[in-house]
Amino acid sequence: MRISLTVNGEPAEVDVWEGESLLVALRERLELAGSKNACEQGECGSCSVLLDGALVCSCLVLAVQADGHAVVTVEGLADGERLHPVQQALVDAGGVQCGFCTPGFVVAAADLLARVPEPSQDEIREALAGNLCRCTGYAKIFDAVRLAARP
Ligand code: FES
Ligand code: FES
Repeated sequence: MRISLTVNGEPAEVDVWEGESLLVALRERLELAGSKNACEQGECGSCSVLLDGALVCSCLVLAVQADGHAVVTVEGLADGERLHPVQQALVDAGGVQCGFCTPGFVVAAADLLARVPEPSQDEIREALAGNLCRCTGYAKIFDAVRLAARP
């Protein structure tokens, strides 16, 4: 079936099958491969996107559920050539190793800072609790969020 949605501010129409996840539709049909497919079970947060402004695991959302709605992926966060502050902070703080988890952390941290501009350490940890990183040990990622939050 054909769905119509807004992706990163642009209207999009895409043919999907009824059981297809939003993650698959984004990656394989709309060629937005920033959202990563690591577990496909809602466990790792690598596929995090904003659906009508709410943070979701796109592997757990059916593409048809996004019909008529607005999706923001990691590709939609930078301002042209200028990285989103969370992206820049992850680079500056050394919070990226293999990078597979990074898009999910970027989306989740950007969502946190949009809601809570100066989060506490506990608020950062809670907001990123759904995102798994297999490389960094998290310390540099938390440093990056604090760096991005700095006024
Ligand atoms: S791929 Fe969606 S939560 Fe892991
Ligand atoms: S940097 Fe490799 S999984 Fe996080």
